[in-house]
Amino acid sequence: MTVNPPLPWALAAEDLRVVRHKNEILKSISFSVKRGELVGLLGPSGSGKSTLMRSILGVQAITGGTIRVLGQRAGAPFLRNRIGYMAQSSAVYLDLTIEENLLYFAGVLELPSSEVIRVVDQVELAALANRIVSSLSGGEQIRVSLAIALLGSPPVLVLDEPTVGLDPLLRRDLWRTFEDLADRGTTVVVSSHVLDEAARCGRLLLLRNGELLFDTTPRELLSATGAATYDEAFIRLIEGA
Ligand SMILES: Nc1ncnc2c1ncn2[C@@H]1O[C@H](COP(=O)(O)OP(=O)(O)OP(=O)(O)O)[C@@H](O)[C@H]1O
Ligand SMILES: [Mg+2]
Repeated sequence: MTVNPPLPWALAAEDLRVVRHKNEILKSISFSVKRGELVGLLGPSGSGKSTLMRSILGVQAITGGTIRVLGQRAGAPFLRNRIGYMAQSSAVYLDLTIEENLLYFAGVLELPSSEVIRVVDQVELAALANRIVSSLSGGEQIRVSLAIALLGSPPVLVLDEPTVGLDPLLRRDLWRTFEDLADRGTTVVVSSHVLDEAARCGRLLLLRNGELLFDTTPRELLSATGAATYDEAFIRLIEGA
């Protein structure tokens, strides 16, 4: 009798290639991510971070290779309610309140309204639940987007530059939230330009020009580059030492 071992990987990409208009956007990328890992996806603008995230979601046409999520092909119906996504541009209705936005998205996902209360608490927006989103600060609006991604407690979260434009305290708080989620078993992939804040991740994937330049820990990145700070390490790597 053969016993199937439990699937260890939350994400597994093998020779993933994406070509658009004859440009190779992702060049044969391979990596795997364990369940409950917090992974920082780093790289300069245009390096392919959002394209890789769309590939994980299954909404990006793939030219070659494979990408699997929770053991299934990316985009499979099984994954529909199992990946929480926060896009780089806001997908929130500005003319609705926080609560109305969340009730709408909970309805799409066929979740009970108790789920709305839970996620509003989780991102600490309960006091503002009846405010129109357009009246919120940038940081508050980002937390609304995060709350939408958290609806239904998906086992995988894909967050595209969730901390951009936020002050250092808010960035730290958000990274703590990501760490908490990962500690409780959620697989969290967060893209960022800022290596310094992503150094909180156990694991860093560094993209440059569509290539996976580094798959490493923050500490190894410092020793590999001989840099004193994460910012310096990032610049040395990207400038192509
Ligand atoms: N619809 C498209 N058609 C052709 N090329 C595209 C398209 N969308 C993105 N690209 C190109 O793919 C490359 C990677 O883009 P992508 O958005 O994945 O980068 P990114 O790392 O997320 O950048 P940023 O940090 O600015 O968000 C860029 O060169 C971009 O111009
Ligand atoms: Mg992007």
